[in-house]
Amino acid sequence: NRNTFIAPSLLASNFLQLGREVEMLNRSEADWLHLDVMDGRFVPNISFGLPVISQIRKATTKTCDVHLMIEEPEKYAEEFKKAGADLLTVHYEACTHLHRNIQQIKGLGMKAGVALNPHTPVHLLENIINDIDLILIMSVNPGFGGQHFIPKSLEKIRQTREMINHHKAHALIEVDGGITLDNAATILDAGANVLVAGSFVFSAKDPEAAIKALKHA
Ligand code: DX5
Ligand code: ZN
Repeated sequence: NRNTFIAPSLLASNFLQLGREVEMLNRSEADWLHLDVMDGRFVPNISFGLPVISQIRKATTKTCDVHLMIEEPEKYAEEFKKAGADLLTVHYEACTHLHRNIQQIKGLGMKAGVALNPHTPVHLLENIINDIDLILIMSVNPGFGGQHFIPKSLEKIRQTREMINHHKAHALIEVDGGITLDNAATILDAGANVLVAGSFVFSAKDPEAAIKALKHA
């Protein structure tokens, strides 16, 4: 009813059953598939990359929301477009020429997102807020699923909402990390549009029901 988008994070899925997991997501009320790419340099973990994403792309018609936790994302943007990314999110902290990187992503025909680590202030996006399609507020330190939501993130979501309103921007606010049914409503009340959820969805007995519950939080 609030027009919330739910983006389950496949990082927490069973990779041995990836095809079935995607079929489950296709049937579910999930809006996007959140795909976490880690390079072992920007974050202290390595996940999956282009070949896995191309396979997922073939198996779903849902929006592929690719969250790049990698250094030098500009080197790979074109490859992620070819792999089927609809939305490509890069980290503020990984981009020296963020404005250029955003133009590159949009020029390739994808929506462009910018992610902020927990320590990065929201106001740093003031000069590009009208150029981007999404702001991703990290509510945990990126690199791992199953961590606890950092409470300070709520204030950052509110600040982001104010900044978007002030600049009459259209960017969506996505929140990623530690989201459960216990905090989803509070996060949405703070101004978020898109909820990412990994362990809450995939460790549930009934993941489809968990997605539905978040969708109606
Ligand atoms: C963390 C990733 C998240 C992660 C979320 O680096 O960006 O998308 O999968 O997992 P949960 O929901 O378990 O915190
Ligand atoms: Zn993520």
